[in-house]
Amino acid sequence: LTVIEKPFLAVLGGQRRSPAPTWLMRQAGRYLPEYRELRAKAGGFLAFCMNPPAAAEATLQPIRRYGLDAAILFSDILVVPYAVGQSLDYLEGEGPKLGAVRTQAEIEALDWVNWRPKLDPVIETVSRIREQLPQETALIGFAGSPWTVAAYMIEGGGTREWFEIKAMGFRQPDLLDLLLDRLVDVTADYLIAQVDAGAEVLQLFESWAGVLPVADFHRFVIKPTAKLVAKVRARHPNVPIIGFPRGAGTLIPAYVAGTGVTAVSVDQTVDPVWLDQALPPHVPVQGDLDPILLKVGGQPLVDGIRQSLKHYPNRPRLFNLGHGVLQWTPPENVTLLLQTIREGA
Ligand code: CP3
Repeated sequence: LTVIEKPFLAVLGGQRRSPAPTWLMRQAGRYLPEYRELRAKAGGFLAFCMNPPAAAEATLQPIRRYGLDAAILFSDILVVPYAVGQSLDYLEGEGPKLGAVRTQAEIEALDWVNWRPKLDPVIETVSRIREQLPQETALIGFAGSPWTVAAYMIEGGGTREWFEIKAMGFRQPDLLDLLLDRLVDVTADYLIAQVDAGAEVLQLFESWAGVLPVADFHRFVIKPTAKLVAKVRARHPNVPIIGFPRGAGTLIPAYVAGTGVTAVSVDQTVDPVWLDQALPPHVPVQGDLDPILLKVGGQPLVDGIRQSLKHYPNRPRLFNLGHGVLQWTPPENVTLLLQTIREGA
């Protein structure tokens, strides 16, 4: 009996691997023609996320095309607000729109008790993917971290300033803590269910980590994420958890130490020489290629990858972008990316 090793999991277990195990945030998505075809039949993005055969297929498309080292569940961070009863629509070209919640009464009126069955389809998708995944490929489950999910819930969508949630943090920090605590509980149960169904790694997306003053970063990003990690670990002590505090910059070491995540995903603005010295040597780092380079392609892409592969020379390292694959990225650039990573090994 040969046990097939998953290089992705080996790195999260603290080992170095060459070539660096690779996946890309938003590896399933609109830049792939086969995704656009599937998406056109789905009747809306939320319906797509709640359709297990279609969502499993979307997850597997980039694995079949490229043979990446990890697959990520095809879903969205905003299925959690949807499950607790907030209205949610994805408008073409405008991004997500939610019915904003801003008062204690509005927060308490959401369904924090019986939300779980609404996410059954997502959990079924996880089991379906796990059945069909090649044995060398790891399966990543995910959720938005509480601050980022709360930001969309309070604003009612994406914004430039994040005025409403930051204002709540300044005027009524206890009310924001209340919402974050509820999100910690729901998100922990949701992530535990993903692991029960076959997810082998979890990633926490904190896309808007970079907009807070330092004290609020500790209170509204690190504290709830630490609670979330502890709750998941109470049930699944060994599941690797990757935190992605996008834009956190100099606060990354405090984030890693304070939350207890296994590994950290970094964007292209982080100085790798500084971070390598600032983090304990066993902590794996994932990153950090500018997604613009993937869209540009050609020699700039090859040069950018070679440069990025020199980062973190002695530490467990996973290769990824600094943020998601952009729309209209030529699919063949991902082939070039993987060739470049694998020939450099
Ligand atoms: O391939 C993967 O990475 C897995 C699937 C995935 C999606 N969203 C699919 C998606 C994951 C992990 C996410 C996370 C997510 N969703 C984040 C965190 C990561 C980040 O990008 O910062 C955030 C902030 C969201 C919220 C969200 N969902 C926004 C702002 C948008 C609109 C912007 C856009 O790109 O359209 C979405 C929609 C969305 N989520 C799409 C996909 C493939 C596009 C929907 C479509 O096909 O029409």
